[in-house]
This record gives sequence, structure tokens and C-alpha cells, in this order.
Amino acid sequence: MGENTIPPTGRRRPLRRALVAGALSVLGAATAFAVPTTAGAAAGTLGAAAAQSGRYFGAAVAAGRLGESAYVTTLDREFNSVTAENEMKWDATEPTRGSFTFGSADRIVDHAQSRGMKIRGHTLVWHAQIPGWVQNLSSAADARAALTGHINGVMGHYRGKIHTWDVVNEAFADGGAVGSLRSSIWTQRIGNGFIEEAFRAARAADPNAKLCYNDYNIDDADAAKTRGVYNMVRDFKARGVPIDCVGLQSHFGQVPSNYRRNIEQFAALGVDVQITELDIGGSGTAQADAYRRVVEACMAVSRCTGITVWGVTDRYSWRSGDTPLLFDGNYNKKPAYDAVLNALNNATPNPPTDPPSGACSATIATTNSWQGGFQSTVTVRAGSAPVNGWTVRWTWPGGQSITSLWNGEPTGSGSTVTVRNASYNGSIAAGSSVTFGFTANGTAATPTATCTSP
Ligand code: G3I
Repeated sequence: MGENTIPPTGRRRPLRRALVAGALSVLGAATAFAVPTTAGAAAGTLGAAAAQSGRYFGAAVAAGRLGESAYVTTLDREFNSVTAENEMKWDATEPTRGSFTFGSADRIVDHAQSRGMKIRGHTLVWHAQIPGWVQNLSSAADARAALTGHINGVMGHYRGKIHTWDVVNEAFADGGAVGSLRSSIWTQRIGNGFIEEAFRAARAADPNAKLCYNDYNIDDADAAKTRGVYNMVRDFKARGVPIDCVGLQSHFGQVPSNYRRNIEQFAALGVDVQITELDIGGSGTAQADAYRRVVEACMAVSRCTGITVWGVTDRYSWRSGDTPLLFDGNYNKKPAYDAVLNALNNATPNPPTDPPSGACSATIATTNSWQGGFQSTVTVRAGSAPVNGWTVRWTWPGGQSITSLWNGEPTGSGSTVTVRNASYNGSIAAGSSVTFGFTANGTAATPTATCTSP
């Protein structure tokens, strides 16, 4: 790949955040007049800046670093999504057949949940980081049973906590004909159909999680490997095989000139695009420009719903010699950090995309906050099929409690909240949404909510 530039993304409008608008209705007048001074102001952290356009900005995290205060301070301040760098992989979660070990992964999940961060799941089916017993699977039936058992075990353990799973990782070959797969235990035992089988099993295991195909070197719109993945996604969509998303790992030296067109072409197939493992070797202005081009390309496509960088700091990057991340080895912000923050702040608002067909999704947004309390709106959306009756659940991260709720029926008590539709808003037409609202005591939080429909 040569040195490239992403085309200009057109006129940029400063984002006018609606979040503070509701303040006037609840705050006392004296306080309320102070609020508009922040309207339209740029956010000061990566996660907050991405959230303005409905996106997340995440980092790959290692459980073993969660005891290091500079690491955790940076993670908690800047990011609103995490991916376990290694802890959810097969060798970590099912080292012995049928015996699941979630200790390290749970530490990351607990850390994220307690701070209201989103969580990406990485990864269920891969050729690498698999234990010996998987490498020794002896037949197609044996391999299928192992594959399904693993997906059920891991997705079941985290059901409702993970917004997106990398169901299959790096299955396509780097060379050869368009569509050729890498030889692995999965192709050898099951054949090329293992990808489809994995996605079908994943949808059954957690119907509310977005299901991603994730790979590297599929960032250039016209590369043979990209064409192969594109054709697979198009085929899956045509045949109703469940897939919601393509993950572009984006481990870069140079950013392909057609990167934005690549995001657009996948989005046009009716899937989300997530940039899942971004890191770009280099330093200074050149590195900052490359990062800016990547973020601008994502912000230009409404179905590009989030970005994850593959690590918090250059100190612990898997390619440390390349200094490819946004914070240097001493956790100082690099020029690339400023470029990313600006590009996120310049994005236009991004409407939420549809949940999987037949399901519903729920998104919590803070509309107002004051000392000791806040007000939120929850948007409940139907996918490509109508919804008749819905139930939304979430868990408060820090002892919040609801003081009043409208347009829904709350049940239960404690940190887990369950809200059913009111008598008049249970039916949602395909592609439409309804809202309910509440006020609560405590620090404003936007935990991940799950939505189920009977
Ligand atoms: O934890 C052990 C440690 O106990 C041992 O002493 C040491 C000795 O080698 O190894 C440590 O494990 C290493 C592990 O990272 C944790 O640091 C493994 O050897 C090493 O292979 C492993 O590398 C990971 C790599 O995936 C494995 O393929 C990287 O951290 C991780 O960043 C990388 O992530 C992948 C994505 O999953 C998929 N896409 C590409 C990306 C980069 O390679």
C-alpha cells in the first residue's frame, strides 16, 4: 500500500449537542442560565467526543495492567469501550474442553461495567490462540460440537453485557484467489461453511449482540482479500445468514487512499462497520495525519459506529517498536491524540442503526443532570420486523436509583432495572422507535441496556 490520503469529507458542522437542552425544564432558573455556555463546546476526552455522534471510542485492554494506576487513569478518563486484548480468546476461556475459565476476562468486564463503558467481545472462532484439544479435533462432528459448545459457553456467560462479538476472526487467506480461506482446523474439519455455522450459532446464543466478521488487510476497498469478505457478507445478507457488522482491524503503516470508500461499500450491504484494532506506526505530524484520515473516514459514514485502538499506551503495544498508539510510553498525549479528538468533535450526529431483525434495542441518553441527580431518555427501537411488547433491562454501575419514570412500567428494585412497555407504547413498527424517560438519584450514567421482545 502506498502513501494515500482520504478524500475530504465535505462540509463539517460543529455539533450542537441536545444533551443540555432538557436542563432548562428541571433546573432552577439561576443554574439553568449557566448551562448554555457549554452548548456546542468540544468534548475533552475521546469517549465523550465520540459519544456526541452516538459512537464509541475504545481501547484493547490487558487484565494484567488493571492494577497500574497510570494505565487505569488514562483508560477510565479517555475511553468508553473496551476490548479484551487476549482474555476472551479460546485458549483463555476454554483451555480444557467444557471447562470455562473467565477470571481474567471478568476482571475487564467488571471494570468496564462499573464505569459504564461498552464492551466488545474478541473473539470466538479463530485459528490462533486455540488450546491443544481444539487443534486435535478429530472429525467434522467433533469440530462442530466444539465450535457450538464454545460459542454457547462464552456468549452465554456474557449474554447482555457485550454489544458486539467478533464471531469469526481472520478466516480469509492473504494471497490467492478472491474468497480463498486460510487453512485452519476449521476448514480442515468442517470446510468453508464453518463461518456460516459460527454466525448461526452466535445469533442463537445471544440474539441481542451484534455479530461481526473481523479481519486485517481488508481495509483497501479493491484488494482481493477485501473482495472476498465483501462477497461473503453480500451472500450472507442475501441468504439471511445472521451478520451485523464487519470489523476492520486497521493495523496500519499507511492508510489506504480508498479507506472511506471501503467503509461505505460494506455499509451499503446493510451491515455496520467497526474499526476494531486501530494502530498506526510512526510519530509526530505524519502519524497524526494518518489517524485523522481514519477517524474522518469513519465519521463520514453513519454505519461506522465505533473505533477501538489496539492498546492504551505505546509502552504495552504488541508493536511497541512502531509507537503506534495515542499515548506514549509515559501516558503523554501524542499529536495523534489531538488529531483524533478534533476529528471526533467535528463529526455530525449519528442516528442509531437498527437492531437485528425481529429484536429490539435500547439506548440510554442523559438529557439533564444536576448535583445528586439526572434525567434520561431511553429510546427503544425495532429492527426490520415490528415489535409487540418490549422489556428493557440495565444495571446501575454506582448505586443510582430511579425516582420517577414515565411511558413505561418499572418493576423490581436494587441495581438491576427492568422496565416494560406501558399499555399504549408496546407496539413499535419496523424501523421505528418509542421512548420512555426517568429521573434518578446519583451520578449520571448511561449503562448498556438490553431489550427483549416476546
Ligand atoms: O501471558 C504470557 C506470559 O505469561 C508469557 O510469559 C509470555 C511469553 O511469551 O507470553 C504471554 O502471552 C502472550 C500474550 O500476547 C500476552 O502478552 C503471548 O505469548 C503472545 O502471543 C500474545 O500476543 C497477542 C497476539 O494477539 C497473539 O496472536 C497480542 O498480545 C495481541 O495484541 C494480539 O492481538 C491480535 C488480535 O487478537 C487479532 N488481530 C491481530 C492482533 C495483533 O496481533
